[in-house]
Amino acid sequence: MGTRMIGTGSSLPKAVVTNDDLSKIMDTSDEWISSRTGIRERHLAKEETTASMSTEAARRAMENAGVTAQEIDLIIVGTVSADHVTPACACEVQAAIGAVDAVAFDINAACSGFMFALNIAHAYLQTGFYKTALIIGAETLSKLMDWSDRSTCVLFGDGAGAAIVRADDRNRLLAFDQGSDGIKGSVLACPNRSNNNPLVETSKELSYVHMDGQEVYKFAVTTVPVSLQRTIQAAGLTVEDIDYFVLHQANIRILQAVAKRLKVSEDKFPISLDHCGNISAASVPILLDEMNRQGLLKSGMKIALAGFGGGLTWASAVLEWDA
Ligand code: COA
Repeated sequence: MGTRMIGTGSSLPKAVVTNDDLSKIMDTSDEWISSRTGIRERHLAKEETTASMSTEAARRAMENAGVTAQEIDLIIVGTVSADHVTPACACEVQAAIGAVDAVAFDINAACSGFMFALNIAHAYLQTGFYKTALIIGAETLSKLMDWSDRSTCVLFGDGAGAAIVRADDRNRLLAFDQGSDGIKGSVLACPNRSNNNPLVETSKELSYVHMDGQEVYKFAVTTVPVSLQRTIQAAGLTVEDIDYFVLHQANIRILQAVAKRLKVSEDKFPISLDHCGNISAASVPILLDEMNRQGLLKSGMKIALAGFGGGLTWASAVLEWDA
């Protein structure tokens, strides 16, 4: 049994914050941010939550795929910023859309979250017991940012992207590669609550994302091209056969470096980071949905996807588009 992607959806918060807006509240500038990252603005959540954006993205993906909530038997959300420790964001989405027969759970693979969810869904569909999966990448990263750390907070945004994948006799998920390197986990990290019991003194300080930007950059530009090459080869294709490279939207310079290493034109690397910033697990499905709605994805096209980030984690896949 194979996997076929049949619909996409996305949701961004209403509020848009430009680089110039940020320069009014911290010592930064549009010139610094856009020249180093390609980011010009990002959406930040006010009344929106990780679950509400996930639900909106899910409804749009279901509509795009022509799938009802009753047909969905699996919901996986990749997120590091769920609204609750429990219930999982996926369970909140399940309740909101009325997918009463679905198994629902979250996974944490940071910026590779959607890609890991895609691979997990593929494994479930291959068993033959599951037919239709809703996979989501969703983040409210702004709540995990230290807004006094200009080197990190300017990079990230909020939003959600979703896709429906369905079991199909002909497999369109042509190949997959994923990996993790926990030894380097500290270069991009965000602590959870510290121990809290009668045996310890509890810190009341909130914890935020901290990042060694240059180490993350080096990791991305060395690991991602190798993973993509491995996946494309496993699909029986060459880089020239790939119509689009839909990569996690962290930084324009990472995308340019990957294109250079693969010897592929940057034109094949669509971007959303200019208006979204880095939305971790949501980046890949939001970009895929934007391309789908712009009519860029044609039947038979070969799309290489890749996610990379905290963990450290990375994943890539080659999809044949046939929605
Ligand atoms: N505005 C203005 N100046 C800033 C700034 C900001 N938002 N953030 C940092 N600076 C300053 C620093 O304080 C430093 O000043 P100094 O030289 O006086 O000490 C200077 O800019 C250079 O900082 P540095 O961190 O060396 O910049 P950089 O060229 O490495 O660029 C990143 C920083 C974060 C843009 C870059 O490392 C990067 O893109 N890394 C990858 C990060 C990423 O994509 N993470 C997510 C992966 S999932």
